[in-house]
Amino acid sequence: MLEDECRAINLPFFKHITSGHPYVTYKCAMTLDGKIATVTGESRWISCEESRRYVHRLRARCDAVMVGVDTIISDNPLLTVRHVKGRNPLRIIVDSHLRTPTSVEILSGPMARKTIIATTETNPHIHRRYQQSGASLLVCRQVDGRVDLHDLWGQLGSRGIQSILLEGGSRLAGEALAQGLIDECIFFFAPKVIGSDGFSPFAITGVTSMERALPFKAIEARRIGDDILVTARPEKPCLPA
Ligand SMILES: NC(=O)c1ccc[n+]([C@@H]2O[C@H](COP(=O)([O-])OP(=O)(O)OC[C@H]3O[C@@H](n4cnc5c(N)ncnc54)[C@H](OP(=O)(O)O)[C@@H]3O)[C@@H](O)[C@H]2O)c1
Repeated sequence: MLEDECRAINLPFFKHITSGHPYVTYKCAMTLDGKIATVTGESRWISCEESRRYVHRLRARCDAVMVGVDTIISDNPLLTVRHVKGRNPLRIIVDSHLRTPTSVEILSGPMARKTIIATTETNPHIHRRYQQSGASLLVCRQVDGRVDLHDLWGQLGSRGIQSILLEGGSRLAGEALAQGLIDECIFFFAPKVIGSDGFSPFAITGVTSMERALPFKAIEARRIGDDILVTARPEKPCLPA
């Protein structure tokens, strides 16, 4: 009875129990012409305050938030829940060669123990630099010199992480989308235009015809403050390798 409705309210649980992978929601804020940052990498602040508060609610509902190392270097984010009441999720940085500067916010203070760095680096001396702050490291298999995202998703799933809010940037999200590892997208469209320079939400190339475009379904849209919030799901099934 009401099977679809029951699944809809517990998607992370069902995804995790059936596949061993977490349910991954990619969120990003973009301009009306689909740019998440200027060509210089500046993205603060594209969306309105209400959208940013909504993101903090999403964070509080997830087991972990995740970003690529270049977002850490460019934005130095805290990735905590501040604008609403709620618990702070784990924070995961995907950083194959440990380029994360040890001085960043995410590694400072007592919250650093909630930070996990997913890497292909196995040298314990280099690990120690980060462990000193309280952060932990997760060594993953590598593909083409980078963290193997299927392996990472599997390792996080086996640690009991059921839901992840992927917060960018475009290269990590592009790779995750191309590999069928994103379950849902939440896009905030702000009434601004950047033009042809800048970052796209997904750094993917090779789509040379509409036939090869990646299809999405279950699209919904609503106003949020000055922005438009669009949710959609990639059609490609998100199955483990
Ligand atoms: N508007 C928004 O909502 C929003 C949100 C987030 C970020 N941003 C903007 O996005 C920009 C950063 O995006 P970005 O694309 O340059 O960087 P990114 O996606 O944050 O990080 C990319 C890096 O992640 C590492 N990585 C490790 N394994 C990977 C894998 N399997 N696939 C892909 N990447 C992997 C790679 O570095 P290694 O090879 O060294 O590991 C790669 O260069 C910044 O300007 C930031 O402001 C905007």
